[in-house]
Amino acid sequence: MELTERPRRLRSTPALRKMVRETRIDKSSLIYPMFVKEGKGLKEEIPTMPGQFRYSVDMLPAALDEVSAGGVLSVMLFGIPDKKDECGTGAWMEDGIIQKALKEAKRTHPEIYFISDVCMCEYTSHGHCGILNGQQVDNDRTLPYLAKIALSHVQAGADMVAPSDMMDGRVAAIRAVLDQNQYENIPIMSYAAKYASSFYGPFRDAAGSAPAFGDRKAYQMDYHNRREALKEILTDCEEGADIIMVKPALSYLDVIREAADQILLPVAAYSVSGEYAMIKAAAQAGYVDEAAMICETAVSIYRAGCGILLSYFAKEIAGFIEEGRIG
Ligand code: PBG
Repeated sequence: MELTERPRRLRSTPALRKMVRETRIDKSSLIYPMFVKEGKGLKEEIPTMPGQFRYSVDMLPAALDEVSAGGVLSVMLFGIPDKKDECGTGAWMEDGIIQKALKEAKRTHPEIYFISDVCMCEYTSHGHCGILNGQQVDNDRTLPYLAKIALSHVQAGADMVAPSDMMDGRVAAIRAVLDQNQYENIPIMSYAAKYASSFYGPFRDAAGSAPAFGDRKAYQMDYHNRREALKEILTDCEEGADIIMVKPALSYLDVIREAADQILLPVAAYSVSGEYAMIKAAAQAGYVDEAAMICETAVSIYRAGCGILLSYFAKEIAGFIEEGRIG
């Protein structure tokens, strides 16, 4: 055979395959999401997310030791309050769960970069991501609350805030309040293209944040749409977002690619609770090889174009990078 093109040539040894890899992953691009809950001495395994836990503030430092030792240096914190009300007061209280957790975590782990999720659904009695007007979330009345929540997180020590509510104008509202309070250097990572997704199910069990009625389709995006995601992303860029996020990840690789091609900001992808649960459940049933699935899915999300990955498998992914298996 007189073949000029022999792509197999570059696949012949492990060293060569590694040399020609197109996707490079570094541990520093991983963010590990964690749940903190009111109480003492708690390390509760989340039934729908085996291997993930809800920690009370006193138990958080030991968990962070493990994260840090594995080389994951960024953590996203979610709070689970013990009281909820109509307007989500627990989300911005000075001694709210996330504020207490941030203070303690920053004290014990100054080497970790802490990002806080800014939303109201874990704190409202109705489980929606804002202030209600009848059955609908009132966009404009919700904005000052989100700004207040973001400010309280930063005052408690958050290094970055990540609004996940999908209200229009929230990035601008948060930016303005942070700037007024001399926090102009605190970045905003916007959940810019967040779809109304069945993949959030295990998270809502973990955080007790399922809506009491209806769904989130009037604010989170319809999964039939790709161009709309770009519109959301460009709007958040104009409002002053520093990093934009696509969420979920695996079913939205096209959206990640689109964002990476079209915008100049760093693009993050959130591989959500349902993606984690699917792999865990299939592995526990013996249907798939868990490690191989974690590696392949993580790399595929980076290959789609993201530079930052939020994943409940962050510690495992860091381990596989360390071993040289991926990255
Ligand atoms: C809060 C929020 C959610 C997630 C992150 N922030 C839940 C939701 O929008 O219902 C989901 C994360 C995951 O599933 O891992 N709004």
